[in-house]
Amino acid sequence: MDQLVISGGRQLKGTIPIYGAKNATLPILAGCLLASEPVTLENVPDLEDIRTMLELLNYLGAETRHLGSGRLYVDPRGFRGWDAPYELVRKMRASFLILAPVLAVQGRSRVSLPGGCAIGSRPIDLHLKGLRALGAKIRMGYGFIEVQAEKLKGEEVYLDYPSVGATENLVMAACLAEGKTVITNCAQEPEVVDLANFLNSLGAKVRGAGSDRIEIEGVAALGGHPGYRIIGDRIEAGTYLAAAAVTGGEIELVGVDPAHLRPVLAKLRELGAELAETDTTIKIRRSRRLNSVDITTLPYPGFPTDLQPIFTAVCSLAGGVSVIRETVFENRFRFTSELARMGANIKIEGNVALVYGVSTLYGTEVTAFDLRGGAALVVAALAARGTTKISCLHHLDRGYADLEQKLRAVGAEITRVTA
Ligand code: UD1
Repeated sequence: MDQLVISGGRQLKGTIPIYGAKNATLPILAGCLLASEPVTLENVPDLEDIRTMLELLNYLGAETRHLGSGRLYVDPRGFRGWDAPYELVRKMRASFLILAPVLAVQGRSRVSLPGGCAIGSRPIDLHLKGLRALGAKIRMGYGFIEVQAEKLKGEEVYLDYPSVGATENLVMAACLAEGKTVITNCAQEPEVVDLANFLNSLGAKVRGAGSDRIEIEGVAALGGHPGYRIIGDRIEAGTYLAAAAVTGGEIELVGVDPAHLRPVLAKLRELGAELAETDTTIKIRRSRRLNSVDITTLPYPGFPTDLQPIFTAVCSLAGGVSVIRETVFENRFRFTSELARMGANIKIEGNVALVYGVSTLYGTEVTAFDLRGGAALVVAALAARGTTKISCLHHLDRGYADLEQKLRAVGAEITRVTA
């Protein structure tokens, strides 16, 4: 079993390249199933979740090929399959994103139910409600969902909650539907915008992505694309900004749009960091002790839930008490028990974490329970006194490519060992 071994206390200094966004690449790969010609994607991150999605595309009959330097060729012309098996859905819940594109092209689609997840129950009712509105018949079996429709029809859909995945599935469903679909109270995340831009580059007619109302005019078919570039990963960027905030020093991130990180940059300033940005870079410097801050996670443009664990780790070293309110997922504080083993003082009351800042965290053996909780432990370990050993790295590998290399390049002492 691999472990990350981190000797804390080194100040970070230098430049970190930010890779393409995992959460934009996953729906865009699912969206490739709507294309009738080959697509080449650029800035695709080399991550376990992406490999799972490629396995799924291959299983459905699409051909995929790495062209090097983050370029990926997807040829959907052999795509005939219509189901997503449990082995793949179990590995990654985002497999559910193929539900709508498979339905739109093959007239039916069956996806094993994703099951429980460490950060909350994560229902799929909004995906199904939307597809039903577009005319799909839904059948729930033991452990799977099947949707069927000869031809989807445009309709007005109101989402009770701006779910990212439901918005993405519905946008993909509507691209080839008959007539116009309007989705209101939809998700406004930059990854939804990237999916819409990608689909439009294939000939779809999606308008309004990035606002709370998206309109899609169905078209007969989508073409291909010789080189669509995926946006930079705001969550990866936020993780390295947090690492710089806890260790002090100065780093520059290259390849991310600061506009996608407004609430995060605001909180970093409140914490006491100095920031400078251009359209594609962010510089951070922190020299004084961190101040406590209050954070509430919300759908975009609010503070991202995926950075909550990581910023809770930052706050554990701030002066004073920080109040962290998690409103998106109900069970996203599990990692705090591991942080406590490093000396953090955190009290959980329902969906609120009261974080009493301490002056020092101490290295010890800890376990990553999920992807971002694992990243929170890495950030804490970088600032901790002594050596931290983090196990269950498969969670981290789902979302961070070249984590050790990137951190080592800016001065961290971090290695991966096989225990
Ligand atoms: C996506 C991201 C994930 C991020 C999350 C919220 C991907 C691959 N994953 O996940 O990293 O943490 O957005 O920003 O992009 N909900 C329902 N019914 C539904 C669907 C969702 O009640 O049908 C609820 C969920 O339980 C959760 C909330 O809505 O409480 C947000 O979920 P959603 O926005 O759908 O997240 P994902 O798309 O799964």
